Amino acid sequence: MPLVSFHDVQKTYRSLQGVDYPALEHFSLEIEVGEFFCLLGPSGCGKTTVLKMLAGFEAPTAGRILMEGRPVAGASRDRAVVFQGDDSLYGWLTAVENVEFGLRMRHVHRTERRERARRYLELVGLRGQEQKYPAELSGGMKQRIQIARVLANEPKMLLMDEPFAALDAQTRTLMQMELASIWHATRTTVLFITHDIDEAVTLGKRIGVMQAGPRSRVKGVVDVSLDGARSRTDDAFLRYYKQVYEMIRDEVAKSLSRAD
Ligand SMILES: Nc1ncnc2c1ncn2[C@@H]1O[C@H](COP(=O)(O)OP(=O)(O)OP(=O)(O)O)[C@@H](O)[C@H]1O
Ligand SMILES: [Mg+2]
Repeated sequence: MPLVSFHDVQKTYRSLQGVDYPALEHFSLEIEVGEFFCLLGPSGCGKTTVLKMLAGFEAPTAGRILMEGRPVAGASRDRAVVFQGDDSLYGWLTAVENVEFGLRMRHVHRTERRERARRYLELVGLRGQEQKYPAELSGGMKQRIQIARVLANEPKMLLMDEPFAALDAQTRTLMQMELASIWHATRTTVLFITHDIDEAVTLGKRIGVMQAGPRSRVKGVVDVSLDGARSRTDDAFLRYYKQVYEMIRDEVAKSLSRAD
């Protein structure tokens, strides 16, 4: 059984002018336990909508979304979300206090939560930075603390919506490597949303390409059989890049022409 499945999901938004916008229609997708799934698509196609529905923040208009065979009904600690340019660390708490915050709310014993917070900070490469405050850390470090904070709750799944979009190119590459190694270490199932093909081929075990909206759905899924360190200059990497590029090219063109 897949960890997550979308069955023929439809999502129609009602605009403020009272006009319906059918963002998704016949959207179906399955994500297996432990996999790193990248969802790719042109701007405005409905990627964030998919993530919000799986997170339980939005309900589908029709169709079913299941996790471990049960319908998703509202938010759950099992599905942790990391948003685009998220800046939700508490400025008055240190790095380690930020990471253990959720555990404290759940009354996890002090010794255990401190130990867990340290372990996850170490996993994201922030050993030695435990006592620093967010203002003393770089953007990439803050993002890593956010990931550590989410991982400390030991969710069944990580939902990431363009989490590195706001970072500079070098930090972004570093964060991708970091996330790849975290995934190798924890095998937490990840749904990673991006519109960057390079990022998807770097990280994904499978890449789902979405059509341009309205009525977007999955156009196709590419299995990436690259393991270990992936290099952008490898022939295999470039082949996958090209395959995904060709799938998405027409969709980007469609979405641009609709925006005219
Ligand atoms: N709350 C809302 N009310 C009305 N329309 C919405 C709402 N949220 C999203 N939409 C519309 O649904 C479509 C999909 O939006 P969504 O944010 O899911 O796209 P996206 O693929 O994440 O885009 P981007 O790559 O720019 O982040 C867009 O056309 C958007 O305008
Ligand atoms: Mg989005």
